[in-house]
Amino acid sequence: MSFDLSVFSNKNIILAVTGGIAAYKSAILVRRLKDYGFNVRVVMTHGAQAFITPLTFQALSGNPVHTELLDPEAEAGMGHIELARWADLVLVAPASCNTIAKFAAGLADDLLSTLYLATKAPVWVAPAMNQQMWAAKPTQRNLNTLVEDGVHVIMPEAGSQACGDVGLGRMPEPEDLAEQVKNYFHQAQRAIAEKFGLLAGKRVVITAGPTREAIDPVRYISNHSTGKMGFAIAAACYSAGAKVTLLAGPVSLDTPNGVRRINVSSAIKMLDESMHQLEEGCDVFIATAAVADYRVAEVAEHKIKKAGDELNVSLVKNPDIVATIAQQSKRPFMVGFAAETRNVEEYAAGKLVAKKLDMIACNDVSRADIGFASDQNAMTVFFAEQYQMEKRDLEKASKQEIAQQLVEAIHDALNHKIEPV
Ligand code: C5P
Repeated sequence: MSFDLSVFSNKNIILAVTGGIAAYKSAILVRRLKDYGFNVRVVMTHGAQAFITPLTFQALSGNPVHTELLDPEAEAGMGHIELARWADLVLVAPASCNTIAKFAAGLADDLLSTLYLATKAPVWVAPAMNQQMWAAKPTQRNLNTLVEDGVHVIMPEAGSQACGDVGLGRMPEPEDLAEQVKNYFHQAQRAIAEKFGLLAGKRVVITAGPTREAIDPVRYISNHSTGKMGFAIAAACYSAGAKVTLLAGPVSLDTPNGVRRINVSSAIKMLDESMHQLEEGCDVFIATAAVADYRVAEVAEHKIKKAGDELNVSLVKNPDIVATIAQQSKRPFMVGFAAETRNVEEYAAGKLVAKKLDMIACNDVSRADIGFASDQNAMTVFFAEQYQMEKRDLEKASKQEIAQQLVEAIHDALNHKIEPV
């Protein structure tokens, strides 16, 4: 499970393809950019169309391909000025010597060169050409001009070339290019979030998933928690500008982008790591983990052998992690969760007081459509009395959307807003 998908659905990329054998790689590049959620429109020069057809790019991008400057029909659809304004990034890959020269000279004799002059979006070029053409003085001179003009030049790679030469001039692999684009937008988003996000400047620690309590070296006690809610909250906190550490029990989930993950197994280990994080500095502590209430009193050193009809294992109570952290003198803003099958609100409100929390989110796990393994959730959030905030019902939605609403609730409580439902 990844939390990156469709993150970039509001970002528009123009992929400009010029004439060169590397144009075939651009077909895969469109796929990868689409996989990351970008909207992609392809512009092709006449030279590019000698290597690959517009139809290929139309099918892959899901958009009409732009090839002509002076075509009234195309201009009526999305004209070159509109196209230039639409783009959040123009990526020219492969970029031929000819296009680089046109950009450097400021020519405007076809759609792409005109677009280059008309766009305010950042322009990236990925030159791909014969090694001798790459090294040629005019090419290098033109590239220097582009760099001076603020264009980002993605260096070609060395290797064997389609023409039989060996040297610099190969376009990087499409996966690498797509990743560079993704990282660029991630960094830009992160910079904005760190300044203006709801949790900008906050350090957040989140416990997630189940814990695993050993019986012997090969067996353990655990539960069905998948960690999905905690991981979604970690992603939402990061998107809100926080520095996020995720203390994850054994789960099979990808680490959300930008989040520091520390894997732990038992409740004792989770508590140890939580205390350690507290020492490092923590503004908000969010306990989503389904911590095992009991652990085995004495873990057997060797595998317990089958013997007799009964086996008695003695259990002792685990520490309550969230309550322990809440008791510390320099305590963060404490958020707990309650999963109940009945009297949901009454029990949750009781835990809020008993564990000295600032906020508790509770859900009814007797409902099959939400909770544990489901991708959806619905919750009611209560705040400690001193916040004078009304309880909030978070209607059934994806765990990502619920996580976003929880971030808003934390932000509001941190700012002591009084917000009636
Ligand atoms: O008491 P209960 O397990 O229902 O409380 C749930 C809340 O307490 C959750 O936020 C859970 O992560 C936290 N908890 C904990 N350590 C425990 C048990 C629960 O942090 N040992």
